[in-house]
Amino acid sequence: MRVLTVVGNRPQFIKAAAVSHQLRAVAEEELVHTGQHYDDELSRVFFEELALPAPDRQLGLGSGSNAHQTARMLAALEPVLADSRPDVVLVYGDTNSTLAGGLAGAQGGFAVAHVEAGMRSFDRAMPEELNRVLTDHLASLLLCSSQTAVDNLVAERATGAVELVGDVMVDVAELLRPRALARTEALERAGVVPGEYLLATAHRAGTVDDPERLAALVELLCSLPGPVVLPLHPRTRKRLEAAQLLDRLLGAAAIVLCAPLGYLDFSALLCHARAVVTDSGGVQKEAYLAGVRCLTLRESTEWVETVALGWNTLVGLDRETVRAALQAPLPQDHPPLYGDGHAGERVVAALTLPRR
Ligand code: UD1
Ligand code: UDP
Repeated sequence: MRVLTVVGNRPQFIKAAAVSHQLRAVAEEELVHTGQHYDDELSRVFFEELALPAPDRQLGLGSGSNAHQTARMLAALEPVLADSRPDVVLVYGDTNSTLAGGLAGAQGGFAVAHVEAGMRSFDRAMPEELNRVLTDHLASLLLCSSQTAVDNLVAERATGAVELVGDVMVDVAELLRPRALARTEALERAGVVPGEYLLATAHRAGTVDDPERLAALVELLCSLPGPVVLPLHPRTRKRLEAAQLLDRLLGAAAIVLCAPLGYLDFSALLCHARAVVTDSGGVQKEAYLAGVRCLTLRESTEWVETVALGWNTLVGLDRETVRAALQAPLPQDHPPLYGDGHAGERVVAALTLPRR
């Protein structure tokens, strides 16, 4: 059994860390890095911290518009697949690297397996929603994080085999939580103490690409009760510089601006935060897992269970909604929503065992 895995972005390196080693114990894996994320702090740090096997092939494709980037990946993956001839192409999540891996695989006549299949925000204006829907309808094996995801695929009549395996990010978060909790130097570096700061991230195109929304984001962040630790994604830094808004954040006494963090430092800050403010998909889920309140800077989410239970609030960029959400009582109920921390094992079994 030969699996060709396509990864390219920060969250995919984290997801693959739950699967690659176990997969290599029972099958051959070739790890292909598209190069969508290439800065050390968005790529290399995760391979090192999470002991992810080094990529077997680096496509080094870099940045570009969604269409250009996806097209370059498709063109580069076609000969790689023809050379490798895997039994299955494995992709994770909802980025351009996911769609390119899925489409190149299906067009090449290979089976495609999609981890985190069936997630839906039902907002087609988000590139991630388009990537997820298209990848799900190309894939022959759809590995889901939740029953909601399974139900979405059934409602869409997806043709691939659907399996509920749980969420691979839970595996990584649970395994590393003791180390993250003990990593108090991450808080010391940021100059914050447990329970008395907010952790914020924002990088989605819908939040930062439009200058008006970007300005609203900056004002929202500056209005939060500080300190607010803000590891800045390079997309956001570039947009802030272009709009001449970076100085506003640098000048805000309550905002602790820093470079993107490694997984352990970020998890340390997340686990000890009073609340998390984010537009990230993965961070919403990790806040829930850590039992930390989340305020999501979007109008929709694919992690709907966290909202239904009251741990996550969709606040958009509205300051009043944020203020109210920060003061609301925390819910009592905290059931295990996305599996038991053994999703990686189930992904490997689904890929390698004969189908029932
Ligand atoms: C991508 C994903 C998004 C995911 C995010 C994870 C798509 C459509 N978007 O968004 O779903 O949440 O990754 O973080 O696939 N840049 C650098 N260095 C890098 C990488 C990017 O400076 O190593 C800058 C470039 O200016 C680039 C911009 O960031 O144009 C955006 O990068 P890109 O990979 O296109 O999208 P992300 O915003 O990272
Ligand atoms: N993350 C990190 N350092 C940071 C910000 C995020 O390690 O400075 C991790 C975070 O713990 C989560 C993942 O990156 O596991 C989420 O990725 P991101 O927000 O970039 O993408 P999304 O989940 O929105 O696709």
